[in-house]
Amino acid sequence: LEIGAGTGLVSIVAKGNTENDKQQEYKRSWAPTFYYRPGKEVFSFLGQEITIQESIDSYGATIWPAALALCRFMETLQGRQHIDLLDKSVLELGAGTGLLSVVITLLGAKLTATDLPEILGNLRYNLNKNTRGRRRHEPLVAELYWGHKLDETFPRSTHQYDYVLATDVVYYHDFLAELLVTMRHFCQPGTTLVWANKVRYASDLDFINNFLRYFDITLLEELDDVRIYVATSKTPEQEGDHVQEMNKEEEDNDKLESSKQDAVEPNSTSETGNNAEEVEHLECDDTQSLENKMEENQVDKGFQEFVRSAEEEEEG
Ligand SMILES: C[S@@+](CC[C@H](N)C(=O)[O-])C[C@H]1O[C@@H](n2cnc3c(N)ncnc32)[C@H](O)[C@@H]1O
Repeated sequence: LEIGAGTGLVSIVAKGNTENDKQQEYKRSWAPTFYYRPGKEVFSFLGQEITIQESIDSYGATIWPAALALCRFMETLQGRQHIDLLDKSVLELGAGTGLLSVVITLLGAKLTATDLPEILGNLRYNLNKNTRGRRRHEPLVAELYWGHKLDETFPRSTHQYDYVLATDVVYYHDFLAELLVTMRHFCQPGTTLVWANKVRYASDLDFINNFLRYFDITLLEELDDVRIYVATSKTPEQEGDHVQEMNKEEEDNDKLESSKQDAVEPNSTSETGNNAEEVEHLECDDTQSLENKMEENQVDKGFQEFVRSAEEEEEG
């Protein structure tokens, strides 16, 4: 019996080797091991200690779950098989506190970590402090506003990357279109985009739908609700095929929409049999809940299709 288990660290240690040792081992090493000053977290990666300075100033000043998940994944055999960063040129978008930047650098990559100007001081501090004397290539830190002056500041002819990495850059903000433009700008033939994210909002699904127009995508892993994908740019022909598929989907949605209207208009002249079936299927007993169900259905449908296509890619 453990009294006052708190964070559960002692319980985890006591649990010892009873179940799946390796899994437990890396999970434990990626949870913050201790706080030795407010605003600092300490992690261990491949036996090396990483101390990250955080603050509550902005989204970029705290560590987000997708960064943790991708770091953990890259420590696994599967991760290293899929993402080989040794001596590769890597660009990170929205690097934030720099936890992932540190790990990328420790894995031997030539990293350029980017973010908004106000984030760069802390990012540079964490990156240098944790990699000095342990790194193969000196990392660069650069300002990058998504979608802004990309051709001037990062021309494609001189800025080619083997990998572009981004964690939790899709959430509720006004720059999703600019983010997609940025991903497309940097993903040239031969570039692999590694994108890890939690799916939180309906707007995330819109981003994903747009993303699928331009990228072939494979789901590598799901860890603690974070999905880790690799993606490559589609050719213009493939983009065209996807647009046709989307048009077909829109047609189907229009049909669904018109059957919805028929269902809520009892005096409608359309076939009552079909409407009754639709209402029963959605288990709606009034107009408002029908509306809600229809909306939910759309979100679920979009998401299921996204997951299905990611899984098909993985099998293919
Ligand atoms: C949710 S945080 C994720 C940080 C880090 N990748 C992680 O997973 O811990 C999103 C990051 O994107 C950056 N960001 C947000 N909007 C941006 C924009 N318009 N241009 C460039 N970076 C942006 C933020 O400063 C922040 O560092």
